[in-house]
Amino acid sequence: MPTTNAKRQILVTSALPYANGSIHLGHLLEYIQTDIWVRFQKSRGHECYYVCADDTHGTPVMLRAEQEGVTPEQLIERVSQEHQADFARFGIDFDNYYSTHSPENREHSERIYTALREAGYIATRDIEQMFDPVKGMFLADRFVKGTCPKCGTDDQYGDNCEACGATYTPAELIRPVSAISGATPEVRSSTHYFFRLPAFADFLKTWIRDGHVQSQIVNKLQEWFEAGLNEWDISRDAPYFGFEIPDAPGKYFYVWLDAPIGYLASFQNLCEREGINFDDYWKKDSEAEVYHFIGKDIVYFHALFWPAMLEGAGLRTPSGINCHGFVTVNGAKMSKSRGTFIKAETFAEHLNPEYLRYYFAAKLTPGVDDLDLNLEDFTNRVNADLVGKVVNIASRCAGFVKKQGGTLSAQCSQADRLQRFIDEGDAIAEDFEAREFNHAVRRIMALADEANTYIADAEPWVLAKQEGRDQEVLDICSAGINMFRQLMVYLAPILPQTAEAARQFLRVDTLDWESRRTLLLDHPIEKFKPLMTRVDAERIEQMMAASREDLVAEQKLKAGSQLGNEDQPGTGNEAAAEDVEISPIAPEIGFDDFSKLDLRIARITRAEYVEGADKLLRLTLDLGNETRTVFSGIRSQYSPEALEDRLTVMIANLAPRKMRFGISEGMVLAAGDDNGIYLLSPDAGAFPGMRVS
Ligand code: 2FM
Ligand code: ZN
Repeated sequence: MPTTNAKRQILVTSALPYANGSIHLGHLLEYIQTDIWVRFQKSRGHECYYVCADDTHGTPVMLRAEQEGVTPEQLIERVSQEHQADFARFGIDFDNYYSTHSPENREHSERIYTALREAGYIATRDIEQMFDPVKGMFLADRFVKGTCPKCGTDDQYGDNCEACGATYTPAELIRPVSAISGATPEVRSSTHYFFRLPAFADFLKTWIRDGHVQSQIVNKLQEWFEAGLNEWDISRDAPYFGFEIPDAPGKYFYVWLDAPIGYLASFQNLCEREGINFDDYWKKDSEAEVYHFIGKDIVYFHALFWPAMLEGAGLRTPSGINCHGFVTVNGAKMSKSRGTFIKAETFAEHLNPEYLRYYFAAKLTPGVDDLDLNLEDFTNRVNADLVGKVVNIASRCAGFVKKQGGTLSAQCSQADRLQRFIDEGDAIAEDFEAREFNHAVRRIMALADEANTYIADAEPWVLAKQEGRDQEVLDICSAGINMFRQLMVYLAPILPQTAEAARQFLRVDTLDWESRRTLLLDHPIEKFKPLMTRVDAERIEQMMAASREDLVAEQKLKAGSQLGNEDQPGTGNEAAAEDVEISPIAPEIGFDDFSKLDLRIARITRAEYVEGADKLLRLTLDLGNETRTVFSGIRSQYSPEALEDRLTVMIANLAPRKMRFGISEGMVLAAGDDNGIYLLSPDAGAFPGMRVS
């Protein structure tokens, strides 16, 4: 991507959060990543706009509002205020935060749909679906529950069985019930509207090859192409909270149709307020850049449906889809019962949000790998880097400058060193541009180390006690303050609040990227106030305890309600919140039955996510003299990395089971209840293949 000096026009978005849930750490990774990138572009002097909105439509919002006894409009207004308060706490500085339930979004959705229809990209056909006769509404698969037709497990969702992995239609479930009313649903037919995605297969193949998505994502997309693209059902029947489809009374746009159009609507709203030319950014031959930052779970919508819709409607397509991975905490998926499913608000009540911005930045790459927030590493890193290195430079030097009147030296005793600090800004800028934030942070901290070493070697505190060495002391400390200033220019996109406090301390107008080139000579500074305090480990404990309390409060709210999470694909981070099933008490068995089990120690040599399975991980197990593949429903509690190389116990003589994702050759043992899932591990000394009895 360009790092040219020419002024660029850039529009940036983050995924629109659903209006029926709180912002949590999983969301924050994306907003922080995007915000840093946008702040960096602004610091470089480019015209860059960052827009977002709440994703408000769909059945879950409608049902939740009903449950709370408010209108959907009241619910989304309240949630929008909560979301915006959370974003403000974390310094996420949108140029516009809007709503998909807006006149602009209705207008753009209708316009794009009509253009697609006129170009022949909309088809209609009748489909059969479960219908809740009590609620008078069609039920998405996730809102039908029943007994699995293959293995007989109760309480399974209408599309697949979590126990045996079978897939089926809700009509095949034994004793289906509506998860909303508990009524027995009936099959009814209705006309649906489809977007003819396969018509764009060639266009999309070329578009994807042209560098608009990361290479890891290209591979995933190839798999989808090979599996074949399907027409996309973009309509839902009334009652539905959304926009009615033009010329189709009682039919509404599916939430995922108008959600990405919400990017346009939010930008349009900004354009009208600020006098920006919307078409400069969205017309077909626009030279402006448009980037969507998203999580890896919603690639299908952004890298297939969205560019196809834009192309079909005669608009420009995005310059880049910037995809990131999920957040894990202490090596495992965020878990409510462990207190690691942390809401933005809860974090901010206990810890400085800039700590999180820094930690995420220090670990963020342009790839899609998951990012682990290890709370011990987090504490050590923030304390060592920000407090111990960066802030320390200013606090060591400022007092000596103040003692001599508070004005920095008129001469620069470290011109060469400072020139290197300035020059390094080019490499740091390239890292920021390429979303290699981890590399940028490494370079910045190397400069901080150098500044600290310089000051430690020069020992101004020793010279200050000697007669006639005041000028030397002032020169050393002024050079130190100038180095600090360079560092704050580089850190400002990551730590906006700290940078603002530093700007006031330094009495400069700006800390933008170019400002670093002018040294502060014969320049007054303010009295130094501590810019950041150390992370207090006790506060982390308190934050986790509060997160567990959040869970209890939520469970009380949920009690009595059968509401499923959504009929929309959720963010991968939402899946972390799934509750663990409680297994029934087993009947008593004799020793003979028990002795039929061949229990063995196994080493997990590999653990992987299973595409399309919310709860499963695919484990490769070493049994000493053979290797097995086992699918295990422990994804909600373990990230693959946390499992690799770990010993556990497996049932080795369980008959192989054919699942949707492959054959499972055994089962690993885990304890589980409402508080989580705990994989069994042997004491030290056990080895793969050892018999357990
Ligand atoms: O996955 C989600 O959380 C969706 N609400 C994201 C929508 S992004 C865009 F398409 F609007
Ligand atoms: Zn089953």
